Amino acid sequence: MGESEAANKARQALIESTGLTDFRPLNKLVKACFGRDAWTWLDVLEALTFPGTVRLKAVVGGDIVGYVIGDRRSSRLGWIASIGVHPKARRQGIGRRLLLAAERGLGTPRVRLTLRTSNQAALQLYAQLGYEKVDVWKQYYRDGEDGLVMERVVRV
Ligand SMILES: CC(C)(COP(=O)(O)OP(=O)(O)OC[C@H]1O[C@@H](n2cnc3c(N)ncnc32)[C@H](O)[C@@H]1OP(=O)(O)O)[C@@H](O)C(=O)NCCC(=O)NCCS
Repeated sequence: MGESEAANKARQALIESTGLTDFRPLNKLVKACFGRDAWTWLDVLEALTFPGTVRLKAVVGGDIVGYVIGDRRSSRLGWIASIGVHPKARRQGIGRRLLLAAERGLGTPRVRLTLRTSNQAALQLYAQLGYEKVDVWKQYYRDGEDGLVMERVVRV
């Protein structure tokens, strides 16, 4: 797919708020995105019901192809708890649009997230948007891989 074709497809994706009514497709999508690291259905349920959480989905042709969940740890700090785009819908700018929309929804001056040190796709996405490494959580993941903590200063 050419660059402009991918950009057009991403623009076609609708970014909308989501919630419990999307539980089934979201639970499926989380599994398709994360495999061994996927949240359990209970985690998904919690993320969709926890008060004050920013929850967005990306919809293409009626199908949910991406999602992002964020929460506020304080009035100054937001966290992206999870973001994923279906393997078939990647590299079309949908992840970037979801992340930017979640930052706006959080409205906090700083936003943080965690990723596997080996997750190049996520690392590139976050770096492109101005996220910088602020911490390493040793052996954060079940298999012993470290977690990188990255932060973006949205405004000072
Ligand atoms: C990370 C993820 C959400 C990115 O979603 P996406 O919709 O494909 O990302 P975008 O198309 O918006 O990509 C934006 C930029 O990120 C970078 N990027 C995204 N995927 C990449 C990849 N596989 N390799 C290198 N860079 C990549 C590029 O800089 C890209 O810009 P470009 O396409 O103009 O070069 C997606 O790969 C995913 O769901 N991965 C599995 C779940 C996951 O790891 N989530 C994050 C956990 S912290």
